[in-house]
Amino acid sequence: FPPPRGHPTYSRPVQKAELTRLANTLLHVSNLHWILVEDAPKRTKLVSHFLQETGLNYTHLNVETPRNYKVRGDTRDPRIPRGTIQRNLALRWLRETLNVNSSQPGVVYFADDDNTYSLELFDEVRHECVGMACSLCGGLRYESPKVNTLGKVFGWKTVFDPHRPFAIDMAGFAVNLRLVLSKPQAYFKLRGVKGGYQESSLLKELVTLGDLEPKAANCTKILVWHTRTEKPVLVNEGKKGFTDVNVEI
Ligand code: UGA
Ligand code: MN
Repeated sequence: FPPPRGHPTYSRPVQKAELTRLANTLLHVSNLHWILVEDAPKRTKLVSHFLQETGLNYTHLNVETPRNYKVRGDTRDPRIPRGTIQRNLALRWLRETLNVNSSQPGVVYFADDDNTYSLELFDEVRHECVGMACSLCGGLRYESPKVNTLGKVFGWKTVFDPHRPFAIDMAGFAVNLRLVLSKPQAYFKLRGVKGGYQESSLLKELVTLGDLEPKAANCTKILVWHTRTEKPVLVNEGKKGFTDVNVEI
């Protein structure tokens, strides 16, 4: 069964480039089902055509982030979560599409469209649950769970608020589909969530620290990088636009 991936994306000059890079990665992964959720009032032509042409298994959904939750301009307000409503829609879609007692095996992984994913990551998460390392996160070379000699997670090697219940980036965990279906109330919280607590808001509904299964050689291998793409400055387009708007980029 295709391991579903919930994945938010929004319209911007680099969107197709990000999706191209991501699709090129996903094309190497067997039994994958890509749930792509556009942050848009309707599914765009650009993304629809793009998905069709990849030949990947996918479901294309959309939901727009309300204005008051949108990131404005270049300012990055850590209190405003990104892609949260979109991930929640993917969770709802899974629960509505698959029966609770569904015997479909699968693993849910929440992918940002701009990260860099090692192919090894998909083999690691295929086997079960939660908790690997993430690189270039939180002002460090990497962040990771603290794992004891028995292979149990007992804390977090982070500088940014290590006392969070789950001090782990979105890219740092995967959840078994069975668990997602068996806890139909578990969603990412949108309101009253401090910066960096988004992941905890879902995970604490699903698991306890003791349930985590460290992956990637007890979280010593880095298989995902929190890369970010520079925003292009299209100054030479001017007010009316210089290039042909009908050419898709
Ligand atoms: C980091 C984490 O990697 C995200 O998983 C987390 O959602 C985010 O912080 C957060 O806590 O708000 P970061 O690189 O800062 O991510 O954020 P982006 O990569 O810009 O956005 C995360 C995802 O949400 C991307 O897939 C992006 O396409 C999507 N997004 C972003 C939207 O769907 N709508 C937006 O308005 C902005
Ligand atoms: Mn990102």
